[in-house]
Amino acid sequence: MINVALDGPSGAGKSTIAKRASEIFGFTYIDTGAMFRSLAYKALSEKIQIKSQPQSVVSMLERTNLDIKRSEKGQLMILDGKDITDFIRTPEVSKGASDIAVIPQVREWLLKVERELAGKYDCIMDGRDIGTSVLPDADVKIFITASAEARAKRRHRELLEKGIEKELSEVLEDMKYRDAQDSQREVSPLKMADDAIFLDTSDLSFEESVNSVCDLIRKVIN
Ligand code: DC
Repeated sequence: MINVALDGPSGAGKSTIAKRASEIFGFTYIDTGAMFRSLAYKALSEKIQIKSQPQSVVSMLERTNLDIKRSEKGQLMILDGKDITDFIRTPEVSKGASDIAVIPQVREWLLKVERELAGKYDCIMDGRDIGTSVLPDADVKIFITASAEARAKRRHRELLEKGIEKELSEVLEDMKYRDAQDSQREVSPLKMADDAIFLDTSDLSFEESVNSVCDLIRKVIN
């Protein structure tokens, strides 16, 4: 199997780049952020206070079934048999996902799912700790980032396209909260692997970013 690890902070363009590159190579795109989001969605639906009730989150895992389905629309998230893909991109779920990702048992629970998928498919797996802890032996490791302002603008545009109205300054603030929490948590923080290739997309167009990623993958699979 060919495994590509793609890490970086939120809004760096990882998922759109990874989706396109996966299509080009015929690989499966695996969005691990969507898995944390799905668990956060369930916890929020059950009115669990993620930050102050981590034990309730851990017991929730025992009665949770999370599956991924591949479809023409991309990766579908199936939570306890229901397709919840359309409900996990709200600002509340984004914050909840960053909060839930701090809980070690949640990361362990998802690690199994992530490694099983990587063993089954040639894939591009996108996340925060793929190159450092989920797939330390990945064939290609890329760390994608962009300035906080560039990332907030992209996220703001994406939210508007989904009909979610939020001030740009608020989106930037949310992003800084998540950046800080994702990089400072104790277990598997967002960190570039020593052997990853660094790619700053602040001044790159989408096509240029995709080309850079594809060039890096080509070098390895040839
Ligand atoms: O990539 P995203 O914005 O969908 O991720 C949502 C949150 O999940 C993010 O704030 C941090 C967490 N996450 C993580 O801790 N590890 C991953 N591999 C992927 C996401």
